[in-house]
Amino acid sequence: MLEIRRERDGDADGIRAVLRTAFGGNDEANLVDALRASGNLSVSLVAVDADRIVGHIAFSPVTIDGVPGGLGLAPLAVHPNRQRSGIGSALVRRGLEALHDADYVVVLGHPEYYAKFGFRRASDLGIGNEYGADEAFQLLELRIGSLPANSGMARYGPEFGAWS
Ligand SMILES: CC(C)(COP(=O)(O)OP(=O)(O)OC[C@H]1O[C@@H](n2cnc3c(N)ncnc32)[C@H](O)[C@@H]1OP(=O)(O)O)[C@@H](O)C(=O)NCCC(=O)NCCS
Repeated sequence: MLEIRRERDGDADGIRAVLRTAFGGNDEANLVDALRASGNLSVSLVAVDADRIVGHIAFSPVTIDGVPGGLGLAPLAVHPNRQRSGIGSALVRRGLEALHDADYVVVLGHPEYYAKFGFRRASDLGIGNEYGADEAFQLLELRIGSLPANSGMARYGPEFGAWS
């Protein structure tokens, strides 16, 4: 039976494996390892089936104009053999429930996928990003009034430098 739980000691290799298989490379696995090493893996959940990690989601700190308070959802991965069965959505929902202190969450991803969780285009809220993305860069405000009144630039942590 599928279980979604927080990452534990001993999960790192299984997380690496699912990220490498889902993304077809090492970049996202290296990013998660770097976030863990720097203490910036704010929330890390795994989907486990029959003792095997089949999905993973991570959240790490982001700033707007240097002001902390937000989190970035990245990466999200489900093993290719298990995609399109709701595991990714379950990881996003459970992840968002676990973000007790965050003001907002940003994500760079497919708009149709993230809209169902309440994300909207960040540029509509005046929030830019470092990647030159428009529709793909989305934001979910968790604490109303936490965003800058006019506009601002969201930035992920330094671990993303090598990844982007
Ligand atoms: C994106 C991903 C995490 C989704 O996980 P999942 O468990 O398959 O997602 P769910 O089962 O919850 O949702 C499936 C639905 O999402 C949508 N969806 C899935 N992948 C999508 C994509 N790349 N673009 C747009 N919509 C997508 C589809 O509408 C699908 O519904 P359908 O089966 O009725 O067509 C998974 O496909 C994955 O790991 N992909 C490779 C890594 C990646 O791209 N990660 C996202 C980075 S933002």
